[in-house]
Amino acid sequence: NISANTSFIGKSVIYMPSCHSTNDALNKYASKKLAEGTVLVTTEQTKGRGQRGNTWECEQNANITLSVFLRPSFLEARHQFHLNVAISLAVYDTISSIVPRGTKIKWPNDILINQKKVCGILIENFIIGKNIDHTIVGIGLNINQKAFKGNFPATSLFMELNKKFQIRIVTESLLEHIEDRYLQLKNKGYAALRKEYYTHLFWYQEIGSFEEYKKDGTSIQFQGQILGVDENGCLSIAKDDKKIKNYAFKEVKHLY
Ligand code: BTN
Repeated sequence: NISANTSFIGKSVIYMPSCHSTNDALNKYASKKLAEGTVLVTTEQTKGRGQRGNTWECEQNANITLSVFLRPSFLEARHQFHLNVAISLAVYDTISSIVPRGTKIKWPNDILINQKKVCGILIENFIIGKNIDHTIVGIGLNINQKAFKGNFPATSLFMELNKKFQIRIVTESLLEHIEDRYLQLKNKGYAALRKEYYTHLFWYQEIGSFEEYKKDGTSIQFQGQILGVDENGCLSIAKDDKKIKNYAFKEVKHLY
């Protein structure tokens, strides 16, 4: 009974009480007939997937766990990062309307509150030739969970504000923001979105610590300044030796 104030995102909702991964479950429905904006929600995800092949753990009934089906045929495959920016901003909009300060976007699309991760996004593009056939946008947004295990700092709206939230209400707000940002990208282009993404980007133009993964499997740590994100979504960093290097997602990681 999700009723977002939207024209297509979440107009059709598939509810699964339990599933392995909402991204995989929704992709099984992905055929020509599935309406753009269809959302698959679950209250228990048993094999949630994250970026870098990580798993995504979350407590049953406590958080938002959903995937959205999109057909961004207006985007060339080489511009797929534009969609990551639009979706990150949609989640940013949702959280910052609830939490007064401290919300940031960590490249490419983690959402942090006071440097702790509150939301993970897994966008999977299915490409045919030069174009994106369809996209599954998976979002795990921590709402009422009270504690987290794991080796990165995580948080929830409850842990930040000491208040419980109705998952349905936050879901509706999220779907509304996704529609707004997606239509902004589709109808008005990327430039304004990128500007806003930089405004909210964690460590933008600041000196931070990074880990660089080398091709031979070794890694080194370095200090650097984030200059921005290039057309391909690579993070452009001015390193301590003043050289500028653009890193793909697999090549670098922020350290806290
Ligand atoms: C990350 O931070 O590494 C991304 C995590 C994405 C988790 C969400 S939960 C809903 C959707 N289904 C999945 O299996 N993963 C995403």
